[in-house]
Amino acid sequence: MKLGVNVDHIATLREARHTVYPAPVVGALLAEYAGADSIVVHLREDRRHIKEEDVILIKKIVKIPLNLEMSINKDIVNIALKVKPNQATLVPERRRELTTEGGIDLIKHYRRIRDVMDRLKSNKIRVSLFIDPIKEQIDKAIQLGADLIELNTGRYSESKNKKENRKWLNRIRLSAQYAKRKGLFVAAGHGLDYDNVKEIANIKEIEELNIGHSIICRAVFVGMVSAVEEMIEIINSQT
Ligand code: PXP
Repeated sequence: MKLGVNVDHIATLREARHTVYPAPVVGALLAEYAGADSIVVHLREDRRHIKEEDVILIKKIVKIPLNLEMSINKDIVNIALKVKPNQATLVPERRRELTTEGGIDLIKHYRRIRDVMDRLKSNKIRVSLFIDPIKEQIDKAIQLGADLIELNTGRYSESKNKKENRKWLNRIRLSAQYAKRKGLFVAAGHGLDYDNVKEIANIKEIEELNIGHSIICRAVFVGMVSAVEEMIEIINSQT
């Protein structure tokens, strides 16, 4: 199982004081050194953490693939076409949300997503769709010709009790199995930490996890390399 490390919250620390440090690109290089398989950044429309320059620098300097999380907003799409990340993950975005709140609705935004995907794909950018673990969304992802999907583990991670936790874990497992059977590459992520990642890493149909906040939080105390290595060790010991 692969690990994509999201370095957004290195930029969150920087923006807390509008300084030039800490630099997300340095965190990305350390994650690469520690064995991460890809780097993930979300260039939000309000630029609250990652800036365009960060994306350009990471793409230029870091060797492992760059996965750009992005909305289908016209300006963001134009930036993606300019920077040409190895992969783009389409996510929904609301200005005032604390973090991404759910998967992108492929049924509601079908045509816009299809058009954005066409533009990205014709520029050789692999396209992933971040969706909730729902069969109808997976079917639409197939219809849209997605290269892969990322299942939203947010509801599982945030569940308040065991029953809810089991329900979402089960949905994620069934969705991963269904998508894999249909030939999709399956990734998952959102809200995963050093504890709740274990059961997700046990789902063999999931081939990649994208994790940010918990790794950066741990890195504050133990350093980026140890934080990433520890996560890799936990993931590998489950499979
Ligand atoms: N995957 C997607 C699609 C996301 O939007 C995010 C948050 O930027 C993540 C993974 C990582 O989530 P977290 O920071 O909670 O680990």
